[in-house]
Amino acid sequence: MPAELVFLKLGGSLLTDKQQENSVRYDHLSHVVGEIRRALDQDTSLRLLIGHGSGSFGHFAAARTGLLSAPAPNWPAYAEVGAAAARLNRIVADALLAGGVPAVTLQPSAAAHCDDGQIISLATEPVATLLRHGLVPLVYGDVALDLTRGYTIISTETIFAALASRLQPGRILLAGEVSGVYTADPQRDPTAQPIPLITQETFSQVEQMLGGSAGVDVTGGMATKVRHMLDLAAISGGLEVWVISGTAPGNIYQALLGQRPPGSTLLKAK
Ligand code: IPE
Repeated sequence: MPAELVFLKLGGSLLTDKQQENSVRYDHLSHVVGEIRRALDQDTSLRLLIGHGSGSFGHFAAARTGLLSAPAPNWPAYAEVGAAAARLNRIVADALLAGGVPAVTLQPSAAAHCDDGQIISLATEPVATLLRHGLVPLVYGDVALDLTRGYTIISTETIFAALASRLQPGRILLAGEVSGVYTADPQRDPTAQPIPLITQETFSQVEQMLGGSAGVDVTGGMATKVRHMLDLAAISGGLEVWVISGTAPGNIYQALLGQRPPGSTLLKAK
C-alpha cells in the first residue's frame, strides 16, 4: 500500500497578523516548521503537501486595491495581489527549508485555469513528481486567470479540492490560530464553543454561526472554507478534514501522525 498522503494548510490567521498588513508571525512559523520536521522524522513514510493562506498579505492587497470590487478588471491590482501572495510564500518556503523540510513552491496562478471563479484545471503532474522524489510540494492562496471574469482569487482550500481528485489524500488538515471551528469568534466572544463535528447535514445549522474572519478576508471566511471542504468530502468517499489549532504544542505533529487533537473539528460528508 502506498504511504499515506496528507494535505496540510497553514492558515493566514496562523502565519500572519490579520489586523496589520504584511506582518508575519515568525514565532508561529518557526513552531509549525519544527512540528512538521518532527513528524517527518517520526514517520518516514509520510508524504506531505503543504498549502498556506495569504492572511495580511494577499487579503490586504486585494482589499486595498479593490481587486474584486472594481467594476472592470483592474490588472495592475492583479499584479500587486499576486506579488503580495508570492512574497509571503517565499518567507514560508525559506522557513521550511531552513528547518529541514524540503519544500518546493508550485505557483498556483501559473498552474491553474479558472472559469467563473472555479478552478477548471490545475497541473497535478509536477506535484506527483515532487512527491515521488520525497519532496514537499508547497502551494498557496493566489490570484488566477479566469476565462469569464478575467481573473479571480483561489483559496488554498479550492486548490486542495482541485488537487485531491487526482492525488487522493488520506486526510486534509487545516491549521489555524484557534483550535477547530467555533460557534462564534472565540477572540471576541467568551461563550464561543468549538464544534466537534460538521457534516453536510449539519452545515446549514452552523453556517449562520460561522461569520467572516477576524480581519480582512476576500475569500469568504470560515463558512466558505468549510463548505468547500464538505463538498470535497462528499465526492471523495470517506475523506476526513480536521480543523486544528496550529499553535497548541504538539497539535500539528499529532495530526500529521494520524491522531486528532482535542478541541479540533472533524468535517466529513456524513
Ligand atoms: C487567499 O487564500 C488568497 C489571496 C487573498 C490572494 P486563502 O483563502 O487560502 O488565505 P487565508 O487562509 O484566508 O489567509
